[in-house]
Formats: sequence, C-alpha cells, structure tokens
Amino acid sequence: MSSRVLTAVAWPYANGPRHIGHVSGFGVPSDVFSRYQRMAGNRVLMVSGTDEHGTPIQVQADAEGMTARQLADKYNRVIVEDLQGLGLAYDLFTRTTTSTHYEVVQDLFLALYRNGYVVPRTTMGAISPSTGRTLPDRYVEGTCPICGYDGARGDQCDNCGNQLDPADLINPRSKINGETPKFVETEHFFLDLPAFAESLGKWLATRSDWRPNVLKFSANLIEDLKPRAITRDLDWGVPVPLDGWRDLPMKRLYVWFDAVIGYLSASVEWARRGPDPDAWQQWWCDPEATGYYFMGKDNIVFHSVIWPALLLGQNGAGDKGGAPGAFGTLNLPDEIVSSEFLTMSGSKFSTSRGTVIYVGDFLKEYGPDALRYFISVAGPENQDTDFTWEEFVRRINFELANEWGNLVNRSVSMAHKNVGAIPRPGTLTDADHALLATSKAGFDTVGGLLARSRFKQALGEAMRVVSAANKYISDSEPWKLKDQPERRDTVLHTALQVVSDANTLLTPFLPHSAQQVHQALGGSGVWAAQPEIREVSELGEGPDYPVLTGDYAGEQARWESRPVEVGRPLEKPSPLFSKLDPKLGETGPEWAPIR
Ligand code: MF3
Ligand code: ZN
Repeated sequence: MSSRVLTAVAWPYANGPRHIGHVSGFGVPSDVFSRYQRMAGNRVLMVSGTDEHGTPIQVQADAEGMTARQLADKYNRVIVEDLQGLGLAYDLFTRTTTSTHYEVVQDLFLALYRNGYVVPRTTMGAISPSTGRTLPDRYVEGTCPICGYDGARGDQCDNCGNQLDPADLINPRSKINGETPKFVETEHFFLDLPAFAESLGKWLATRSDWRPNVLKFSANLIEDLKPRAITRDLDWGVPVPLDGWRDLPMKRLYVWFDAVIGYLSASVEWARRGPDPDAWQQWWCDPEATGYYFMGKDNIVFHSVIWPALLLGQNGAGDKGGAPGAFGTLNLPDEIVSSEFLTMSGSKFSTSRGTVIYVGDFLKEYGPDALRYFISVAGPENQDTDFTWEEFVRRINFELANEWGNLVNRSVSMAHKNVGAIPRPGTLTDADHALLATSKAGFDTVGGLLARSRFKQALGEAMRVVSAANKYISDSEPWKLKDQPERRDTVLHTALQVVSDANTLLTPFLPHSAQQVHQALGGSGVWAAQPEIREVSELGEGPDYPVLTGDYAGEQARWESRPVEVGRPLEKPSPLFSKLDPKLGETGPEWAPIR
C-alpha cells in the first residue's frame, strides 16, 4: 500500500556555505528518511530551498559589499552544489525569491488577514534623528532584554535566538553612526497568536507520539502566546499584499513568516514544473498524507507552533473560525524531527568563531558517504555532540572500511576468484539459515526504526547484520574449503546474499557506495538515484536559477531482500572505502587544523 509522505526540510539561509553542523541537523536525516520511504514504496515529496530574505542575508550582503540579491544568488548556488554533492535527494530544492513563493506567501497572508488572524498594530519604530529616515531593524543594536547580550539586533538576538523589536533593546544605538535612535509610532502586522490558544492546544494534545522534549516545549509556549510581529522595517523581503502597504519600501513580511510558507510554495512550484499543476494537493490536502518536518532544535518553535498556527488560520480553523483560503484545508505537521547541535570542542559550530568545517571541503576530501555515515552514527540526534577528527577517523577506519568495506570486498573477491560468478548453493546448514534469518529480520527492525526517525539505532542494527556476516565468514573459513567446492559455494552464496541484503539496509545511509556494491554484485542500472542540478527558468518572470531535483521513481532499490542471481558474472572488486591516515585524528586536515 503506497502512502504519500511529505518530507519538509528546514531552509538553509543563503548567507554562506553550509558547514557540517548544518547538514547534520536538517540534511542527512531527512534524506535517509526519504530514501527509506521511497524504497518502502511510498510516494515521497521532499522539498526545501534556500532562505533568502531578511536580516541574516542583508547583514552578510553588507559585509561582502553586495546587494542582498547578489549575495542570495551567490550562496544559493554554493548550497545547491553542497547538497547535491552529499546526495540529498530533494524532489525540489528551490529558493524563496521565486515568483511562486511570493505568490503563495501573499495568498496565505491574505487568507489570514481575511479570517482576522493578522491585524495591524501601532508600535514604536526606530528612525535616525539626524536624517529622519526609518532605521532598518538590523541597524539598531543594543543589549538584549532577555539574555543581556550586548550585540543584539533590532529584530533578533543572535545569542539567545529570541525575536525582538527595536524598541525592546536596552541602550539602543544606530549601527550606522552610533546615535541613539528616536522611536516614533509606526504600523506593523501582527499574527494574533492568542487567537490560536485553544485550537493549537487541541491539536497539540493529539501529537502524543512526538518526542517528549518537543511536546513539552511546545505546550509551555502555548500557555503564554502573545501577538507576534510578522512585518519588519526592512527593504528586502516579500511585500505586504495590501493597498497602502504593497509599495512601502521599508515594510516587508518577516523572514520567518515567508520561510515556513516555503514548504507549501516549493510543493506548488514542484507541481507546476510537472504534468499536473495541482499535484501538490495530494500531499497537502489529503488527510491520509503524512508530513514530516526536519530541522535543528533552534527551529522547533517555528514548526511546532507558528507554522501550525498559520495553517490553522489559513484553514479558518483558529479560535475565531473563518473560511479556508485559496489553498483549501491544509494538513498540519504530523512529525517534528529535530536534532540537537553538532559542536566543535564544545562550542556551537560558528563561522564567526572560526570553528568551522565546510561541507564542500569535506566532500572533496572524504566523499559523501563518509560524512553521511558519520552523521548518522555519531551525529547530534538526541543530544549535543562534539565533532572530533579522532572519532571520524575511528568510525571510518574501523566500522565503514574494516567492517562493511571488508565484508563486500572479501565476499566478492573469493567468489570471483573461485567461481567467477555468483555460485550455486548446495544444502544449507543451520549456520547458513541463521545468518540469512538475521539479515531478513533486519528489514523489519531497521525499517521500523527508520520510519520513526531513529537513525542511530537503525544504522546500528544494519551494522549488526554486517558484523554477523563477517563472523560467519571467519567461522566458515571458505578459503579452507578447496576440497569441498559445494560447501564453499554454499558459504559464498550465503555471504553474497547477505551482502546484498545489508547493502539494501544501508542504502538510505550510504547511497553512493550502495550503487557500487550493486555493481560489484553484477548488477547494472540505477540502484540508488542521485539528485541533479538543473538550471530552470522562472515560471513568472525573473532570472534562471539552479534547483535540485531527480528521477527517483526509476531507481531499483526496494526495501526487501532480493535473491542474488546464480551465475551472474563477478569482477574483481575495487575497495569501497579508503582508510584514513590515523594522523588526521591528531592534526585535522590542513584546511581545518586542530588548534
Ligand atoms: N533559515 C532558517 C535557519 O537556518 C531555517 C528556516 S526553516 C523554514 O535557521 F522553515 F522556516 F524555512
Ligand atoms: Zn538574547
């Protein structure tokens, strides 16, 4: 039975290349999950894109001496290349500066507005006393009223992550010339969050299978909901689609408001690029479809409270009622899969503090599956986790190369040398049956864990099959069975069958090497499909841009044991993984030396 699965992956800011902390939070887990779901026969729609508006982009653009648009263009491309290199199989990875995104965001705003869930409010905005002009939020700095950090900006504190208003700052000052801004009355739109207290509470109560920390965190938040500004004093973002607002140069929708709507707009864009422009509805409007959202923990509130509130409001299903907007009745998230932080020497990965390992550099040197493996087995799934080169070397050398690489290599080599093909088995012994039963059982165990986003455990179970197979080969000593060719062939056949099974179990984690193993077993064609970069033209107007997409329906990988074919010719295999120099564990690579 095929179900529809929406994999909604957090949108990385287009303000720099991604580091391995980023992709361990949103990237690899969401891809492992989606690949498993596709293999299990479900119809997956995996969407995301670069988050290109707001202060995070504008601040970096100022730093690099370009416009926000130029900066977004630059890093959109870099990020698309990084994610493609990692093999993240998005159906569509787009960006928030497309005409479809603007249209969908504005339509959703209008639905909320008509249902009375966004309301204008008079607030205090900063102006420069010397010029009399509006001071953009990012140019007001001061002390954070929540955590006391002294470099907080007028829209957000980067230290505690809280959303702020310029007027909240203690000792506000202009970043342009240091003067104290004057505060004057100005209008902004607010999301009336208190008008969702009951509906959100009811919905959250149905989410009993969420991880307890996410549930508790969200339940606490809805105890004390306050209206939240969804427009900012800023000139880079989606305009407010109302007369009198549309053309105001310094009022734009808040970046987080437009970014979360990206899940919907990317789905719409994906559908419009295909044969059926309404196809997105199968993932959004059919209550049978399930939506899984992947992100780092600093994004939880936006996905467990704000996005559901926007959806309820659009649906006319908040506490004030209303009518569904242009999109009909949209599904709320089913699962929030959040990860903790990958740290380096105890501190959060940070570009500014110099502890940073870029995905691009990493891929060039060690290839995608080493990073995918490391993140899946030792990443921050349940707790903040320190990245060390030492552990990376250990995991790659002793687990990936010694255990898995070696199993494939010796099984295929022996069969190649002795038979030149996949051998025909004789009568199976108990040991043969036992090993085959172990690998068959893996499909349920590993699959069950993957479906619940328990990646570490799932990978551990898959690697248990690998260890069992290695032990089986060591115990059976096929190299000593020269005089008993039938027994030898039975052992080799059994080993190759388990290599094939283990390869299937590992495919979501290691899609690139899975393709190689498929070929080493004499297979041809695409086993695990990879995303490709396509240059597309804007559906409305605007320049071309690169997207990630792919033909995943054509891949052969299925979540089941597939009998190896007796007599299929085997070549001498080449090693799957090269071992790392143990010195790397002490020094780090040249481009990210341990200090
Ligand atoms: N750009 C945000 C970040 O990096 C994440 C946005 S997720 C979205 O923290 F859903 F809002 F897009
Ligand atoms: Zn703060």
